[in-house]
Amino acid sequence: MVLLSSFNLFIGLVSAVAGVASTSTSPLLSRRILHERRSAVPQGWSLHRRADPDTVIPLSIALRQSNLDNLDDYLLEIADPTSPKYGQHWTPARVAQTFRPSKESVDAVRTWLVHDGVDGSRIQFTKDRAYLQLNVTVAEAESLLATEYYVYQHDDSGVEHLACHHGYHLPEHVSSHVDLVSPTVQFGGIKLGAALAKRGGASPAKKDMPRPHGPPKTPVAAEVGSALTADATNCDQQVTPDCLRELYGFNYTFVATDKNKVGVVELADQTYVAKDLDVFFKKFAPELVGVEPTLVSIDGGKVDFTETDESIIGESNLDFQLIMPLLGKEQQVSLFQVGGSGSFNLLLDAVDGAYCTFDGGDDPSEDVVPSGVKEDCGTKAPAFVYSVSYAGAEDDDVHYMQRQCTEFGKLALAGMTFLFASGDNGVASNSANLCLLPNGTAADAPGAFLPNFPATCPYVTAVGSTQVDAGKSARDVESATSSFGSGGGFSNVFPRPKWQKRAVGGYLSKVGGSLGYAGDVFNRSGRGVPDVAANGFPTAVVIDGNFTLSGGTSASTPIFAAMVAAVNDARLAAGKGPVGWMNPALYSHMFAGVFNDITNGTNPGCGTDGFPTAAGWDPVTGLGTVKFQQLLQRFLTLP
Ligand SMILES: *[C@@H]1O[C@H](CO)[C@@H](O)[C@H](O)[C@H]1NC(C)=O
Ligand SMILES: *[C@@H]1O[C@H](CO)[C@@H](O)[C@H](O)[C@H]1NC(C)=O
Ligand SMILES: *[C@@H]1O[C@H](CO)[C@@H](O)[C@H](O)[C@H]1NC(C)=O
Ligand SMILES: *[C@@H]1O[C@H](CO)[C@@H](O)[C@H](O)[C@H]1NC(C)=O
Ligand SMILES: *[C@@H]1O[C@H](CO)[C@@H](O)[C@H](O)[C@H]1NC(C)=O
Ligand SMILES: *[C@@H]1O[C@H](CO)[C@@H](O)[C@H](O)[C@H]1NC(C)=O
Repeated sequence: MVLLSSFNLFIGLVSAVAGVASTSTSPLLSRRILHERRSAVPQGWSLHRRADPDTVIPLSIALRQSNLDNLDDYLLEIADPTSPKYGQHWTPARVAQTFRPSKESVDAVRTWLVHDGVDGSRIQFTKDRAYLQLNVTVAEAESLLATEYYVYQHDDSGVEHLACHHGYHLPEHVSSHVDLVSPTVQFGGIKLGAALAKRGGASPAKKDMPRPHGPPKTPVAAEVGSALTADATNCDQQVTPDCLRELYGFNYTFVATDKNKVGVVELADQTYVAKDLDVFFKKFAPELVGVEPTLVSIDGGKVDFTETDESIIGESNLDFQLIMPLLGKEQQVSLFQVGGSGSFNLLLDAVDGAYCTFDGGDDPSEDVVPSGVKEDCGTKAPAFVYSVSYAGAEDDDVHYMQRQCTEFGKLALAGMTFLFASGDNGVASNSANLCLLPNGTAADAPGAFLPNFPATCPYVTAVGSTQVDAGKSARDVESATSSFGSGGGFSNVFPRPKWQKRAVGGYLSKVGGSLGYAGDVFNRSGRGVPDVAANGFPTAVVIDGNFTLSGGTSASTPIFAAMVAAVNDARLAAGKGPVGWMNPALYSHMFAGVFNDITNGTNPGCGTDGFPTAAGWDPVTGLGTVKFQQLLQRFLTLP
């Protein structure tokens, strides 16, 4: 039965391709080639039925951007510490202009559609001509793309999703001008959203709204209450703001507070609770009692101080209780609260209007704005540094991840720093402890290592986690966290960048041979994560009015963000720009001596011990934790 139907499908596909090719007399109609495919139906979804041929779908065709091959060179020119143009960030207008699709691409796609019988008046271009859109029936789309559309159903929620079964095809001469066509093979991050939807929790995310990323789960939440000391004396048992100051020599007073811009990102219905912040501040930062972050509401994002569910308030409470005392009372922090599906694309749209439509625009199945809310599109002032403690598995649609990563690169060109938690499941992905099975499916089972995205995007800085070992103090060198694995490993999507070759190559040649992993367990040519680390356990935090211990790379990221914000402050005070994208500098010879090298611990996952830490960079704690004064001094020497 199963064999027969897939056999039929195969025949159908071939004849559709052949049908188009055989009528090809014009050079315009070159051979169709496979443009994109998805190897497997994502876990939790089943093929339900053939799509109705009369269903109308909004087809969007994303044109390939110009100059993308040069993005790395452009970035190195302003971020390599040896470059004479270091620090000369681009204006947003220059970024948009540089990557706009060429007229040749626009013409190639339009000519193909018209030649294939689409009336030219049905085709609309976005203002910047980054993509074109047309409403077509499923039958038309199947013929244009030589594919077949099916309706898939989510096993738990019953949510339906339209997608192509195997892959789709474009004329060979058109394929090179197109990034992606949607809706086609994308399922995106619906998997985790569906899991969250089961909670049936508070809005704005509706049951059928995908929520691609969730906060890394809190590994421990023990009542500590009155036993908590406010100083840096028990940092192996309870990490307080003073512990962090002592660990990294970070006791900085912000001065350029009228110019500096610090952002913390929270997604969907995740919210902080003001009275929890106050209980925390009363003990650790009395001057902050009553102070709140400045809300930047994106796509209807809001806070809800009546919320008590720890899975909804745990992340945001932790982030602000850490970053605000470290920034101090003078430096205000912005909360970028992303509503709707709470996906990173909505954040990026809000701070960069050019991204909304760029490269095909958002994926309607992943990036959902609540009905009745006007989508933010370049309407929010960006920050210099963003702390993001959310992650998903690097098994999303590859084009989706590449588009988003490219945007992080473009914003880096404009001088922004994105910090992402590397995850709390060691070499498995954070979304649901996922590893890759031999057939390409991700599952909570032993398999190949699966890192987190966007941490694997080379244009963000990924932050891993460390701890003060039992019986040690904040003056001792930390270890990798042992109660959970600091997220780390190697990307299967993003190749190893030039600036990482020395450090990561060094690790692999030193340690790689003795790991004993088969060649397909991790990708030796991929970008290594994390880049840096900071303390991630056991962090004192107030949840629902009570002091508890929490942690995760969720804690490490806002801690590191506070230090980057301080570097920006000092640079702004000296008449320089913010640091922007730091990675090439952090890995350079010039920054030797900036890091506390972490050489004890591993990051288990996927049924293995994961990777061991080692002298120098390692895929557990990156380059290590920072000595703040050294970091500051190096970045102040740069122009
Ligand atoms: C992949 O393999 C796993 C384990 O053998 C199996 O449960 C799953 O159904 C397979 N998925 C696909 C799409 O073949
Ligand atoms: C497609 O149809 C929708 C709904 O009628 C309409 O709002 C939209 O403008 C149409 N798009 C194009 C490209 O014609
Ligand atoms: C931080 O600086 C303040 C003021 O200079 C000082 O009172 C405090 O002891 C310092 N804290 C640490 C942990 O060094
Ligand atoms: C290494 O880390 C473990 C915890 O994972 C700790 O118990 C041990 O003391 C550490 N060893 C050294 C030498 O720091
Ligand atoms: C390994 O990573 C590279 C990118 O660096 C990618 O092109 C390749 O497909 C990956 N291999 C596997 C097996 O995932
Ligand atoms: C917080 O502490 C109070 C008083 O000790 C207790 O009644 C309450 O159950 C605690 N709340 C949670 C969520 O543990």
